[in-house]
Amino acid sequence: MVGQEPKLEKLFTPIRIKSMELKNRIVMAPMGTLFANADGSASDKLIEYYEVRAKGGAALITVEVAEVHPSSAFGFGEMGIASIYDDKFIPSWKRFCERIHAAGARASMQLHHPGRQFPALGPERPPWAPSIVPCPCPLCQAVPHQMSIAEIEEMVHAFGEGARRAKEAGFDAVEVHGAHGYLIAQFMSSYANRRTDKYGGDLRSQMRFPMEILHAVRERVGHNFPIVFRFSADERVPGGRTVEESVAIAPMLVAAGADCLSITTGVYINGFTYMVAPMAVPKGLNVDAAERVKKVVDVPIIVVGKLNDPLIAEQVVAQGKADLVAIGRGLLADPELPNKAAAGQLEDIRWCTACNQGCIYTLLTATKLTCAVNPELGKERQMAITHAAKAKRVLVAGGGPAGMEAARVAALRGHDVTLYEKDPELGGQFRIATIPPAKQEIVPFLKYLSRQLDKAGVKIMLGEAVTASVVEKMKPDAVLVATGGKPLIPDIPGINADNVVTAHDVLTSKAITDNKVLIAGGGMVGCETADFLAERGRHVTIVEMLPEIASDIAPGPKFFLLQRLAEHGVRSITSATIKRITADGVVIDREGKEETIGGMDTIVLALGVASVRELGDEIKGKVNEVYVIGDAKTPATAMEAIAAGAEIGRQI
Ligand SMILES: Cc1cc2nc3c(=O)[nH]c(=O)nc-3n(C[C@H](O)[C@H](O)[C@H](O)COP(=O)(O)O)c2cc1C
Repeated sequence: MVGQEPKLEKLFTPIRIKSMELKNRIVMAPMGTLFANADGSASDKLIEYYEVRAKGGAALITVEVAEVHPSSAFGFGEMGIASIYDDKFIPSWKRFCERIHAAGARASMQLHHPGRQFPALGPERPPWAPSIVPCPCPLCQAVPHQMSIAEIEEMVHAFGEGARRAKEAGFDAVEVHGAHGYLIAQFMSSYANRRTDKYGGDLRSQMRFPMEILHAVRERVGHNFPIVFRFSADERVPGGRTVEESVAIAPMLVAAGADCLSITTGVYINGFTYMVAPMAVPKGLNVDAAERVKKVVDVPIIVVGKLNDPLIAEQVVAQGKADLVAIGRGLLADPELPNKAAAGQLEDIRWCTACNQGCIYTLLTATKLTCAVNPELGKERQMAITHAAKAKRVLVAGGGPAGMEAARVAALRGHDVTLYEKDPELGGQFRIATIPPAKQEIVPFLKYLSRQLDKAGVKIMLGEAVTASVVEKMKPDAVLVATGGKPLIPDIPGINADNVVTAHDVLTSKAITDNKVLIAGGGMVGCETADFLAERGRHVTIVEMLPEIASDIAPGPKFFLLQRLAEHGVRSITSATIKRITADGVVIDREGKEETIGGMDTIVLALGVASVRELGDEIKGKVNEVYVIGDAKTPATAMEAIAAGAEIGRQI
């Protein structure tokens, strides 16, 4: 509540790392955005995105992966990868630092080379790596070029030069990226380093490359300039470093010049399962590892990983498990998180749901960063909420994510907004999405939206559907039809029989299935319903039209969901079209052949969503402005629904 004593004393105490004084213990974790200019310099868009987060109260802003050497595949192409491998980049990063400083934060640049962890760019452009061992993850797989001693020396020099340029540009610190299985990490671990020269073999030899880099950086930046070294304490891969080994290397890194160690986890091979941990993974997953490292060194420790709840972050710092917390996705969802936490306004935080849909999933498809719950990300200036020229009476029909976001924005713009929801609770289909296992992190976000509606003065009518007569009585200037979607019931013989129910009805407990369940449709809803039912002891078979199930889910959440389905013995039949539903199963078509699947008690439909938008037609011509948004317009993801609400709220 505003004005309440904040209980986050430790989180908001200053700390010093060498010459850098930080006003609190919150670091913005480095996150690739692809917002840089095509040549790798800092663009206006990139500067604005970080500036908003600096204004939001994080003490230290860490710029995403910045390339130190042109051999980095990242340094080529038009993707918009931040770079620092040439003096020509200094002026744009100077502008960047000035803006971050003016916004009250410190800035650190993450010096990076991907090594073998980058998509194959053809045999003429093999990635540089310690050994000829391709990264087996589906994203990479290029056969790398084994770096010669001369190339290693050149790379060490490049990291040093990158640090010099960063310092010249005005950065307050540099972070050497020794984490997540990139080039430096590849040298540090046996699974990627098979060298037999002085850079491979035993632990000391494997540590030679990062230590030479730290020495080179120190030589360029001088004694008092802070150097952070980021590494995955637990690489979670066979042949990768364990926490025990990380405890052993930490003092070596400090002796080589690291002034601060930043603890993260994972490499690409484990598919972003823990590195960018989804809802299925508990909060603070790296805290124990950080605490163990902290015990063996006397430099500040940063820890990352689902620490966006300020109460948990406070506990980590107060209990001395780490000195600083890095927050990644939490600051994508809400740049103001630190300021809100400092003011004790936790309930006003727009919570990251760890869905990974807009951030890491989008980025992995080489698309610029987005956020499922924060459509403003990267468009902060264009999407700033401004007062409407004329206050209108606005009726929002539907309290799902599209309707709620639209109502919030419209009310903040000065409109007189009334929102009707036919159910007794807000949330629409997004509320149903919180029911399956490992989906509960959506709940705080829905609570945030609901509270913001109250705060913005939106009148909320629960349990009331909008009809043409409601509209006639209220005489609104604009109606937003955000009536959402309902389960799609395709025209399949047998679909209306008593043994058929919808996934929505199962999840909301309106329908109870018997023991043997066949789920028609293996997208997100089908798989999550399978998870829900399997947890309740049902024997589940999924039938999916595509060659794989869960193909619409981001890699991290998908990994854990598929793992749970396998543990529960959920069977899946893919590349199969359901031709008809029988009294105890279905008849499918697989590769032109009909097959009968019997022995089922209940068939659960998860075949997609159909728009509900009759209201739009009913009131056409009776109201000046009518807009159909979200699933009512076209069934899509919650991310798209929220984005549609955000847009229309600004348009009316
Ligand atoms: C979109 C995205 C991009 C990322 N890019 C980087 C990066 O450039 N460098 C890095 O070290 N980690 C990167 N990470 C990992 C984050 O720094 C952080 O460790 C991770 O998101 C876990 O923190 P969180 O739970 O607070 O999000 C990225 C994560 C995301 C979501």
